[in-house]
Amino acid sequence: MKDAERLNIIIVGTGYVGLTTGLALGHLGHVVTCVDKDMAIVDKLERGISTIYEPGLEELLQETGDAVTFTENLLKYLPQADLVVIAVGTPSKLNGDTDLSYVEGVACEIGQAMDPASPLVIVNKSTVPIGTAQRVETVVKEELDKRGVSCSFSVASNPEFLREGAALHDTFYPDRIVVGSDDMQALNLLRQMYAPILEQTFTPPQAVPRPESYQLPALVTTSPTSAELIKYTANAFLAMKISFINEFASVADKVGADIVEVAKGIGLDKRIGPGFLKAGAGWGGSCFPKDVRSILFTGSQYKCEMQLVQAALEVNRRQRMVVIEKLQESLKVIRGSTVGVLGLAFKPNTDDIRESPAIDVIQELLDMGARVKAYDPVARERYEQTYPEQSIVYCATAEEAAQNSDAVILLTDWTEFGYLSWSEIGESMKKKIIIDGRNMLDGNELRSTGFIYSGIGR
Ligand code: UGA
Repeated sequence: MKDAERLNIIIVGTGYVGLTTGLALGHLGHVVTCVDKDMAIVDKLERGISTIYEPGLEELLQETGDAVTFTENLLKYLPQADLVVIAVGTPSKLNGDTDLSYVEGVACEIGQAMDPASPLVIVNKSTVPIGTAQRVETVVKEELDKRGVSCSFSVASNPEFLREGAALHDTFYPDRIVVGSDDMQALNLLRQMYAPILEQTFTPPQAVPRPESYQLPALVTTSPTSAELIKYTANAFLAMKISFINEFASVADKVGADIVEVAKGIGLDKRIGPGFLKAGAGWGGSCFPKDVRSILFTGSQYKCEMQLVQAALEVNRRQRMVVIEKLQESLKVIRGSTVGVLGLAFKPNTDDIRESPAIDVIQELLDMGARVKAYDPVARERYEQTYPEQSIVYCATAEEAAQNSDAVILLTDWTEFGYLSWSEIGESMKKKIIIDGRNMLDGNELRSTGFIYSGIGR
């Protein structure tokens, strides 16, 4: 990257979005400073140790070396920055609204320390409700007024579409980049920041090769409000797509159809597309549940009834219990039984357990009097710390979780579960019952080795 193209960028918040974006921008050649209030996180990152489990992230952290600085001191680095990217948490409040206190806290600090001599673009990358760009602008202005100074700055909205478990891939090879601002200079600066991705001129990091069929991404420039709404619309639509196929999985179960075939049959229609049509135990994670609740809250504030999004949420709530119903059908009596649970993370390749289907399923099993043995390749520690009240026997392998169990429920589609030797595992089980909550196993093969196999909608 030529010096003239290199930008000085501060990223505030080193969660999935902040850390991934910071390291990616550093790899592209920008001068990046990642800020986090938590000194323990800063210390660890400085030593090249990733604070989150995400494929390729630690390698990139070590590869980028000095290109990315980690600090807890935003004020020190602010005067040199061209852009500050806000990527802090935006948790749900109890009523579904979004807690913006972290975002506003950062806006306050920016207003308190901005240098009147250097113009600044503030970028909202956190998922934030409609109107937040405007709110950030107001907060910064208020702080500047208190100081009695005027600075040239603008706020842009730049929503993130990365998936956990594929965060680096989605950052380097996105389908599109969305930037919303009323200020042409801000849009130009963001275009410059993303130029190596838009034009794919960078050398791919070793851990994240460029897919052969990858085509250059589109840049969507729009207003801040439309950019904010694009994010919620995308997540609500994807959540609805999954709930839709899950609803049809229930019909497929009743009529004896195979939902995997049905999904293939409709997904080949370009208007529908094949993605996010995997029926299963339902969607979880830190994004879909929170964002769906948040847009429903926004809808209610603006007197827009959002029946489809509401239904997606309801279907998802019900979907979690489908595996329990299937277990009960095969096992008959659940009290006193032992059930092996495979997978605690909300999806594979992450140790994130937020709103994971496993939480509700395990709680229901315990409430019904079952003994639960659980295994997850990476999320066990986090689960044990977060849900100490759930009395679970944690196992070191999938085989151990299945041993002497009356049934196994698969809840996360970790690749390794596809390579298990089920005939051997079956020998160690009390009853050979499998509930495949992710439709990842070969039901016919399992049935031929004596298992009672139930998928979702198969
Ligand atoms: C989601 C979006 O996919 C990202 O585009 C977005 O940036 C992100 O939220 C966010 O807002 O930050 P993520 O939650 O990391 O990403 O994971 P997904 O791959 O979307 O999966 C979400 C849930 O849906 C998981 O529980 C997964 O198991 C489930 N799922 C996904 C299905 O049940 N079926 C499918 O076909 C796809």
